Amino acid sequence: MENPTANKPQDTEKMVVRGLEGVVAAETRISYVDGAQGQLYYQGYNIHQLAERVSYDEVVHLLWNGDLPTRKQLNELRAQLAAEMKLPEPVYKWIKSVPRSTPPITVLRTATSMLGIFDPEADEMTPEANLRKALRLVAKVPCIVATLHSFRHGREPGKPDPAKGLAHNFIHIFHGGDLDREMETAVDLLFVLHADHGMNASTFTARVISSTLADMYGAVSGAIASLKGPLHGGANQKVMEMIEDIEHPGYVDLYIEGLMNDKQRIMGFGHRVYRTEDPRGVHLKRWSKKLCARDEFCQLYEISKLIEKKVKEAKGINPNVDFYSATVQHMLGFTKIYFPSVFACGRVSGWTAHILEQLADNRLIRPTSKYLGEYGRTFLPLGKREIPKAKPAKKKTH
Ligand code: SDX
Repeated sequence: MENPTANKPQDTEKMVVRGLEGVVAAETRISYVDGAQGQLYYQGYNIHQLAERVSYDEVVHLLWNGDLPTRKQLNELRAQLAAEMKLPEPVYKWIKSVPRSTPPITVLRTATSMLGIFDPEADEMTPEANLRKALRLVAKVPCIVATLHSFRHGREPGKPDPAKGLAHNFIHIFHGGDLDREMETAVDLLFVLHADHGMNASTFTARVISSTLADMYGAVSGAIASLKGPLHGGANQKVMEMIEDIEHPGYVDLYIEGLMNDKQRIMGFGHRVYRTEDPRGVHLKRWSKKLCARDEFCQLYEISKLIEKKVKEAKGINPNVDFYSATVQHMLGFTKIYFPSVFACGRVSGWTAHILEQLADNRLIRPTSKYLGEYGRTFLPLGKREIPKAKPAKKKTH
C-alpha cells in the first residue's frame, strides 16, 4: 500500500478567517449594511427614509420584488397575508400542548418546521411555489408567536382582518385586542427595522440550507435556530434582564463595571459590521423614550441611556438593534421571553427574500477548512487495541 503520507495535503498555508469576518459569501440586492457610515439600505432605500413612513407589508413587497408596492399591490398583499394567518389544525393542537416553560423561540422553531409537513407544496421548487411558501411563512411565523401567547393567556386566537396590515393582525391575535395608534406604529416599525440586515448569521444559515435545494421550511427553521443565540437575536431578552437587574439609574455604573471586570459581554452592544452607531438603534432609542414617557414612573429609558453612556465611555462601542428594542418591546406589552421571536416575526421577510435570491442563481455553499490533525496513522485491528497497562511505578531504591 502506498505511503499514506506521501501526498500529505499542504493545509499549512491555508489562512482561517475566524467567524468568516469580512468574507464575501454572496452577491445580493436585498440590503446593504454600511458599517463605516452606519447606514442600512433595503433595495436601495435608506432605512431612515423608510422608518415610520412605510408599513412592514410594504417592506415585505420591497424585499421580495425590489420595489415598493402600489396601493393596489399593497391591498392584494395584505389580503393574501391575512388569508395565510392561520395554522394547520395539528399545529394549533401542538402549540396548545407545549409545556409553558418552553421558550417561544423554541416553539417557533419547531412549529415552523411542522408547517412544512402540512404544505403540499413544501418540496416544490418552482419560483412560483417558493414565492407562495414565502408568503405563507411571513404570515404564519407571526401567527405562531401570537397564537402561543393567546393560548398561554387562556384565549383562543382571534381572526385577522384582511384589510389591515400584518403588524395590526399580529397584535390583535397576540394581545387579544388592538393597541392604540401610537403603539401599533411602534410594532410596525419594529418589524420594518428587523426585516433584513445583510449576511447576518441567521440569513447565512437560511442561504446555506437553501443552497442544497432543501425546502424553505427547513431553511427558515434553521434560521430561527440560529437567531435564538444570545450573540444574535437572543440578545434583546438578555438586555431586558440586565436592565431589570439594575433596577435603578443609580446602580448603572457599578453594575456595568462589574460586568466589564468579569470580562463579560454587555448584551445589546457591539456589532460585527457597524463601526459607528447602528442606524436602527437611532429610531428604537427615540421610540423607547416616547413609550417610556407614557408611564411617569418608568425609569427604563433613563437606565438605558446611562448604560449606553457608560459602555461608550469605557469600551467605545455603540448599542446595536437589540439594545433599545428591549425597552420598546417591553413597553408594547411583550414579555421578554417573547423578544427573540418578535425579532423573527420581522426577519422572516428577509430570510425568505434571501432564499428566493439564492435559488434564483444557486451554487452549493461549501467552504473548506484547515486540517490540524495527523496523517497516516498506523491501523491496529480491534484485538490489538489494548490500552497499555500502566507500568508499575519503579520502587524507589533509596
Ligand atoms: C444582532 O450580524 C448582524 O447584522 C446581526 C444583527 C442583525 O440584524 O441580524 O445586527 C442582529 O445579532 C446584533 C448583535 C446582538 N448581540 C449582542 O448584543 C451580544 C453582545 N455583542 C457581542 O457579543 C459582539 O459585539 C458581537 C457578537 C455582536 C460581535 O462580535 P464580534 O464581531 O465577533 O466582535 P469581537 O467579539 O471580536 O469583539 C471585538 C472587540 C473585543 O475586544 P477585545 O477582547 O479584542 O479587546 O470588542 C469587544 C470585544 O471584547 N466587544 C465587546 C462587546 N462586543 C465587542 N465588549 C463588551 N461587550 C460587548 N457587547
